[in-house]
Amino acid sequence: MINKGIILAGGMGTRMSPLTKAVNKQLLPLYDKPLIYYPLSILMLAGIKDILIIVNQGQLYQFRKLLPEKNNLGLKIQYKEQKFPGGLPEAFLIGEKFIGKENIALILGDNFFYGQSLTKILKKNIKLKSGAKIFLHPVKNPHLYGVATIDKRNKVTKLVEKPRKSRSNLAVTGLYFFDNDAIRFSKTLRKSKRKELEIIDLLNKYKKKNKLKAELIGRGGTWLDTGNIQDFYTASNYIAAIENRQGLKIACLEEISLKNKWIVKDNIIKAIKFYGNCEYSKYLKSII
Ligand code: G1P
Repeated sequence: MINKGIILAGGMGTRMSPLTKAVNKQLLPLYDKPLIYYPLSILMLAGIKDILIIVNQGQLYQFRKLLPEKNNLGLKIQYKEQKFPGGLPEAFLIGEKFIGKENIALILGDNFFYGQSLTKILKKNIKLKSGAKIFLHPVKNPHLYGVATIDKRNKVTKLVEKPRKSRSNLAVTGLYFFDNDAIRFSKTLRKSKRKELEIIDLLNKYKKKNKLKAELIGRGGTWLDTGNIQDFYTASNYIAAIENRQGLKIACLEEISLKNKWIVKDNIIKAIKFYGNCEYSKYLKSII
């Protein structure tokens, strides 16, 4: 079982400069919410309420204003600063104390997931006892991502970070479930050519021990990149199209908490005060 989750919300966001010069990328608006709401909603949908957010040095204040430790979401939020972005597995070194002896979910602060099957997939895999689980999604441009090859039983047979050429079109998305060995294994990793600890190297350690499994987020699910400005706006438009059609919000954190029975109506009223007079508050009013 996984009860704790880490959101890695550091990084320089260089590809989106100058937008990211003064503001962390994860706080930029993806349509009508800060980007970080979307990966946070995924952890919450999985049932995780104990959350560590890793941010860049000096940016704690920005995040705390939006997602304070004492919040109306029924979440236990903690923060840690990262001095310099040293790769995804650093999350397990920075978060060692937070993780303790437990299993852990890691999600990248800029990943967007959506789809009806998703919650089911999350609920199933959150029961993880040992090993690691990755979530794969077909993409047209696999060379931009970690890429996995799998056999008929979804066993991972090959894993490569940003291969020039690949027969597989299955990208490794930025959501990972690990047992506690993630800490121990991460300590043995060496920096790659891009001077970072690589998540693929960590996953390959699990694979070597026959402890790496994959789950497919098929074509009925959605995984969007927000890595550059073009993709960022594509994702924004996607969310706008669905929300404006349905009149329902994607990644409304308070709505998820209420459904999870982590909070009561009174917390929603407090949240409305917190946000002030805005569209988001109007939506919150509509759900109570
Ligand atoms: C990272 C991982 C890569 C993964 C991607 C998902 O890439 O290294 O394996 O597919 O996140 O968003 P990066 O964002 O560091 O280029």
